[in-house]
Amino acid sequence: MVNLALSLLFTLPLISNVRGCPGEDHDHTHTQHRRAFPQAALTPPTRALEWGDVNIIHTTDSHGWLLGHQKSSFPEPNYSGDLGDFASFVSHMKEIALSNKFLAQLPYDVMAIGNHELYVYANTLDMYKNFAPKLKGRYLSSNVNITVLDEQGNVISVPVGNRFAKFKTRKGKKVTALGVLFNFTGNDKNTTVQKVTDMVKEKWFLDAIEEEPDFFLLAGHMPVVKDDWPLVFNAVRAIHPQTPILIFGGHTHIRDCVQFDGRSMALESGRYMETVGWMSVKLDRNGSSENLQFSRRYLDPNRVTYEFHTMQRDLTFDTPHGKSISSGLKDLATSFDLDFVFGTAPRDFTISRDPFPSNGSLLTLFATEAVPVVLSINNTRANIPNIIIANSGAQRFDLYSGPFTRNDQFTASPFVDEFFFIPNVTAGIANQVLPALNNAGTNQRRALMGELERRESELYGRGYVDMVYMRWLEEMDKRGGVERRAAQNMTLGYVTQDSCPGIGDDVVHAPLPFFPSPDFIGSTPPNVSDDAPIDLVFVDFIEQQILQILNTVQTGKNYTSADVATYSPVLSNTVLGLYAQQAWN
Ligand SMILES: *[C@@H]1O[C@H](CO)[C@@H](O)[C@H](O)[C@H]1NC(C)=O
Ligand SMILES: *[C@@H]1O[C@H](CO)[C@@H](O)[C@H](O)[C@H]1NC(C)=O
Ligand SMILES: *[C@@H]1O[C@H](CO)[C@@H](O)[C@H](O)[C@H]1NC(C)=O
Ligand SMILES: *[C@@H]1O[C@H](CO)[C@@H](O)[C@H](O)[C@H]1NC(C)=O
Ligand SMILES: *[C@@H]1O[C@H](CO)[C@@H](O)[C@H](O)[C@H]1NC(C)=O
Ligand SMILES: *[C@@H]1O[C@H](CO)[C@@H](O)[C@H](O)[C@H]1NC(C)=O
Ligand SMILES: *[C@@H]1O[C@H](CO)[C@@H](O)[C@H](O)[C@H]1NC(C)=O
Ligand SMILES: *[C@@H]1O[C@H](CO)[C@@H](O)[C@H](O)[C@H]1NC(C)=O
Ligand SMILES: *[C@@H]1O[C@H](CO)[C@@H](O)[C@H](O)[C@H]1NC(C)=O
Ligand SMILES: *[C@@H]1O[C@H](CO)[C@@H](O)[C@H](O)[C@H]1NC(C)=O
Ligand SMILES: *[C@@H]1O[C@H](CO)[C@@H](O)[C@H](O)[C@H]1NC(C)=O
Repeated sequence: MVNLALSLLFTLPLISNVRGCPGEDHDHTHTQHRRAFPQAALTPPTRALEWGDVNIIHTTDSHGWLLGHQKSSFPEPNYSGDLGDFASFVSHMKEIALSNKFLAQLPYDVMAIGNHELYVYANTLDMYKNFAPKLKGRYLSSNVNITVLDEQGNVISVPVGNRFAKFKTRKGKKVTALGVLFNFTGNDKNTTVQKVTDMVKEKWFLDAIEEEPDFFLLAGHMPVVKDDWPLVFNAVRAIHPQTPILIFGGHTHIRDCVQFDGRSMALESGRYMETVGWMSVKLDRNGSSENLQFSRRYLDPNRVTYEFHTMQRDLTFDTPHGKSISSGLKDLATSFDLDFVFGTAPRDFTISRDPFPSNGSLLTLFATEAVPVVLSINNTRANIPNIIIANSGAQRFDLYSGPFTRNDQFTASPFVDEFFFIPNVTAGIANQVLPALNNAGTNQRRALMGELERRESELYGRGYVDMVYMRWLEEMDKRGGVERRAAQNMTLGYVTQDSCPGIGDDVVHAPLPFFPSPDFIGSTPPNVSDDAPIDLVFVDFIEQQILQILNTVQTGKNYTSADVATYSPVLSNTVLGLYAQQAWN
């Protein structure tokens, strides 16, 4: 499926005195029946949204989850709304916002570029040539350029979309919007990401923010804490000490909110269509310096949530536009054969909800079961004992019981790595490699702290954010996870603690259990004597680390890339499907 990592956002401009309130349709448990999935009963949200003069719905980091989450294991049903349902939701919300029946055709009022549009030049070019023009000036890339040839064949660097947009909401409020990308360094050649520090000094930037709008809308693919939003915020504040500033961030996949002052709010709305963010603000008179009344909410994207907040029933909810998006997505899924079933998973396998190692750990399944089985197929080296090592970050999403499809393979294991090997390493040496790799992160942590931080910040710059997301899950479990789960009156889901006032989650949940896992995982060592020669197999992504460690645990030979060869034509992103065909049929 297409991998979109836009900081997608649209505004529901301006409405006062309209409040959603729970109608009779919403006071009981709903059963979803429109689609075959999911069959779970969903409980409705706790309370109506607070509407303001400006009301904004925000999604970010949706990646491939356009068809919604389709599995029946909890908490997946809570995120089961697909893009069509979302479109219907937006249409209804826009009607409420305007109090009339004229629908805006444009689903997103503003979109901002993300890092995933920049890893491959052809994708950036597609955004520049085909996508941005459709958004009619609302696809924002304030600090991201692409290099192309102009009509005369000259090489020029130009913004991928627009650097900023000025527009009026449907009720006449003036908006100045920007779309900012964090200091991303993993971009392809012929794309340029300007540092945020430099962007805020540009003349075009100062010109764009000079005129005072009714509010600034700062969208962007950049986390709301521990990143560079304050630079943009301060640059605006320096000129407009009182103007409301609404910030919508993303990238680290968490739910988060912070207020840089009493007349601004910054919201981040999770990932993978597991969260739809809501922000509203009641504007006051020009020149006021009082704190503004903001609200924010993290919605679980499913039809129950959507129907509750739009006061619709299942029969009245779908709009024609929403239905056509849902069916278009299904056709797309069919044309990519995403429903192809490799086998039936006997249980859930998770990345962080089960201990590592354990039977429920996806990392255990991958390293000790799936990879050894799959790499032995059609392999002339299959009867030479081996040890296989991978990085745990290669598994991206939990694998749920039931049919394991091509779509599930994409979501669980999207990264394409080759399997390499070094032959004739003695077992005694090869067996030290995995523990040594992982110890580099624990035992010697003190000594290595600077180095680790440097590596983490380098990875962060290149777009890896799992460490932030994992830490977030760990913290929410530590904050009374055991007690909340034991109470049994809350369903599993996110439990958010952010820096904004009041409770942010739309539905009260108990957090998922969290278990840490090592950075590197491996197959079960073969039962051979220490001096037996074996194959040391690993994913290409970690070649340099393997060589480095191998040259630390022994000094008899200086291993280099010249000792490394391809072990198998099988790629890492196909392992789970091939395994399912063998083991789950
Ligand atoms: C979340 O999922 C669980 C399990 O399917 C379900 O019981 C619960 O009602 C769901 N919550 C919401 C808000 O949909
Ligand atoms: C981006 O493109 C504009 C317009 O061509 C150009 O003036 C600017 O220097 C470019 N910025 C960067 C950082 O390349
Ligand atoms: C960048 O694009 C220009 C124009 O297409 C091309 O001439 C140049 O070779 C490209 N540079 C790189 C490093 O690919
Ligand atoms: C607020 O008032 C000042 C001074 O009258 C004016 O310059 C500015 O444009 C006004 N702002 C808006 C958003 O109307
Ligand atoms: C982004 O880069 C600039 C310039 O190197 C630096 O000052 C700033 O701290 C960086 N931001 C982050 C969040 O690392
Ligand atoms: C884990 O799986 C193995 C093999 O199927 C089985 O023998 C063992 O009992 C399982 N352990 C647990 C704790 O379920
Ligand atoms: C193994 O070889 C058979 C016969 O050539 C082929 O059909 C099959 O796709 C191969 N499997 C893998 C995993 O390469
Ligand atoms: C394997 O390594 C041993 C030393 O550890 C060496 O004596 C032997 O020649 C090597 N065999 C091959 C095929 O490289
Ligand atoms: C769950 O039950 C506990 C007491 O066991 C209570 O304090 C809490 O408010 C309840 N939470 C919800 C969401 O009903
Ligand atoms: C390992 O091999 C030895 C010798 O062949 C055998 O006695 C032992 O039972 C094996 N251990 C396991 C765990 O298979
Ligand atoms: C090992 O080989 C690499 C690549 O040839 C070389 O750069 C390095 O200096 C060598 N190290 C030792 C200890 O010989």
